[in-house]
Amino acid sequence: MKIITSIVHMQALAIAPEREGRRIAFVPTMGFLHEGHASLLREGRTRGDVLVLSIFVNPIQFGQNEDLDRYPRDMERDCHIAESCGVDIVFMPTAAEMYPSGFQTGVTVQELSLPLCGASRAGHFDGVATVVTKLFNIVRPDVALFGAKDYQQLAVIRRMTEDLNMPLEIIGMPIVREADGVAMSSRNAYLTPSERQSASCLIRAIRRARELFAAGERSVAVLLKATRAVIELEAAAIIDYIEFRDCVTLQEREVADDSTLLALAIKIGQTRLIDNSVLGELA
Ligand code: PAJ
Repeated sequence: MKIITSIVHMQALAIAPEREGRRIAFVPTMGFLHEGHASLLREGRTRGDVLVLSIFVNPIQFGQNEDLDRYPRDMERDCHIAESCGVDIVFMPTAAEMYPSGFQTGVTVQELSLPLCGASRAGHFDGVATVVTKLFNIVRPDVALFGAKDYQQLAVIRRMTEDLNMPLEIIGMPIVREADGVAMSSRNAYLTPSERQSASCLIRAIRRARELFAAGERSVAVLLKATRAVIELEAAAIIDYIEFRDCVTLQEREVADDSTLLALAIKIGQTRLIDNSVLGELA
C-alpha cells in the first residue's frame, strides 16, 4: 500500500491505470475509520482495479464554532484498516497542499445545499462539493463510493457530478450501524458512555416512524409528532431538525410515500449526530 501526500504525485499515479484501461475506485474520508468506511472500501475493492482512499480533514467544510481542531485522528490505525480492506493507495494531503495561499474557487450545489444540515451549517456543503471536486480531479476515479449516513451529502454529490458532467459513477452505500442501531460515525468517539446510550434515541425514533408508515400512516404531521415524541423522551437530546422530505429533490413533503426521507439531527452535549431513513427502503 502506497501512502501519498503530494497532489502531483497522486495525479501522476492515477494516469497509468487510466491509460491501461484499469478502473480506479475511490473512497474519500476524513479518517478515524470505522466499519462504515470499511464497507465502502470493501465494495470499492470489487468495483475497481486500483482502490484509492483519501484521508483529509477538510477545513473549509467546518463552521467557525465546529470541531475542526478536535476532530479525531489516528493515522496508524487508519492505515491498518485500509490495508485490511485491500486499499492500494492512501492519499493524505496537508491543508496547505490542498488550499495554498491564493486559493479562491468554490463549487456550490444551490438548492440541495440549503435545507437540513445546510440550514444549521452555513457553507458546509460548498466546502464538501469543493473538496470532492478537487479530490476527483486529483484521483481521477471511474467510480466513487459514499455512504447514505450523510444522505444530503450523497444527494449533493450526485447532483454536482451530473450537473458538471464529471465522468465517473457515484455509488451510494447503506448505513452501517452498531449492535444497538446507532449509526457508526467518527464523531461517536466524542460521546461519554451515558451520551452514547442517549444516542440510540435516533434509531428508536426512526423505527417508530417506519412502524407507523408500515402500518399505513401517510400523514407527515402525524409521523413527525410521533418521531419527535421519541426524541423528546431522551432528556440529553436537543433537536436540531426532524424532517420528512423527498429523497431525491429534498423538498418538503406533507404526505409520505416510499420515497420519503426521514432526516434527523440532534445535539447530545457538545456532539451533533445525524441519522436518516428512506421509508420505503429496507431498514
Ligand atoms: P467522513 O465523515 O469520514 O465519511 C466518509 C464516507 O463514509 C462518507 O461517504 C460517509 O457517508 C461514509 N460513512 C460514514 N459513516 C458511515 C456509516 N455508518 N455507514 C456507511 N457509510 C458511512 O463524509 C465525509 O467524511 C466528508 O464530508 C468527505 C466526503 C470526505 C469530504 O470531506
